[in-house]
Amino acid sequence: MTRRAITPGTFDPITNGHLDIICRAASMMDEVTVAVAKSAGKHPLFPLEERARLVRQATEHLPNVSVEAFDCLLVDFARQKDAHVIVKGLRAITDFEYEFQMNALNQQLDYNLETIFIMSPPEYMYLSSSIVRELASFGADVSQFVPPCVAKALAKV
Ligand code: PNS
Repeated sequence: MTRRAITPGTFDPITNGHLDIICRAASMMDEVTVAVAKSAGKHPLFPLEERARLVRQATEHLPNVSVEAFDCLLVDFARQKDAHVIVKGLRAITDFEYEFQMNALNQQLDYNLETIFIMSPPEYMYLSSSIVRELASFGADVSQFVPPCVAKALAKV
């Protein structure tokens, strides 16, 4: 059986922390689809297609990773992709409450869809897209936190 996984997120923008989780998911699974959520309620800085393009560029070295935008329930997207696993990163303890809730909800909606959590390494524990956006908005150098294509895109905002 082909092991297909989804790594979902808003990716506004993708950070090196996201990339670390995607790489590790790709090393465990046969096929990984990075699912870039529209997340309209979060009023993202980058439009959906731009976020997906940046993820695509940042993951182009990973042959079993593909990238798609989606605007539906995650469980429905996973079904469309015939994926049985969601892989998510867990950073500091602050992530836990939200992820606990999402896991319970997704399990209720589709019991056969399993969520696996990968702990972020210490260097990415406190890294988030919102911190990167804030740093960039003050003109700080974000190149140690994001892939080069993202640093370039942020410099243009
Ligand atoms: O990177 P984020 O913003 O923490 O990712 C959150 C995301 C996109 C994984 C989550 O909001 C999600 O799964 N959205 C799709 C819609 C959905 O299934 N929502 C859960 C039920 S309300």
